Amino acid sequence: MPVFREAPGKAPAWCELECFEILRLGPGETRQLERRGKKEKLIVCEGQCTLQLGERTMPGPQGTNADLEPDENSFVMLDVAEPVVAVRMSGRWGDDVGGSGLFSVAANAPPPENDTPYDYVKTTSFDNHYHDCDEYWIFYEGRGVAYSEGKRYEVVPGDCVATGAGFNHDFPEVDEGPMRAVYFETTMERQKRYGHMHEPPLHQDRGRTVPRLSKKRPKGFLRSSWTKLGTVTYCFSSAFFVARSPPQATDAAAASAVAQKIGNCP
Ligand SMILES: [Fe+2]
Repeated sequence: MPVFREAPGKAPAWCELECFEILRLGPGETRQLERRGKKEKLIVCEGQCTLQLGERTMPGPQGTNADLEPDENSFVMLDVAEPVVAVRMSGRWGDDVGGSGLFSVAANAPPPENDTPYDYVKTTSFDNHYHDCDEYWIFYEGRGVAYSEGKRYEVVPGDCVATGAGFNHDFPEVDEGPMRAVYFETTMERQKRYGHMHEPPLHQDRGRTVPRLSKKRPKGFLRSSWTKLGTVTYCFSSAFFVARSPPQATDAAAASAVAQKIGNCP
């Protein structure tokens, strides 16, 4: 069962995402985050701040997706001009990852056409799919119902749904929304195809056991076109959007760190 909460030691042993943290900062606050994993990623979900990664400094608007370099040991969040929500992730993922970013799912949207068959109620436009990599959904706003590896989970802010490569997942219900989350598709494996797979699920058995979680609630999503507004690229559709930040850094090195491999939506 693939749902766990933030804080070290909560993730199942198979997860490359070893722990995560949802950060909420008000204007004037600063926060220093020391490295705790082999790999470190921070995504700004809401608001605006400045980020320091080691010796580098870069703007941190909504959608900023930044990774620590191997020789950098901390993130610092400062110059919070408006309330910031950010998700910090620590773990041991590889260099060839599927992608990461923000997504949101709205309630009461028409289910997608030609969706992979499912046997549950769906009131969102999210598609039932799987990947050639593990995927993590970290929720920071809203409530809804997620399906992963054949099980139903009511999810709330602070929950992380972890889905193994080859296993279907879906977000068919939003109870209180929109549901907003970070997605992270980690190391590519199997056939290393990017994006959503909709062929008959493979359901390989990796013997994974995930500890039960806390509260529950659902979500939903949908897909559409990508549109660039200012410095952020949005994926719009009637039920959800995904925002991916382009390089926001003030120099080439920082820009390189911020630029992320873009995978397909969540
Ligand atoms: Fe996915």
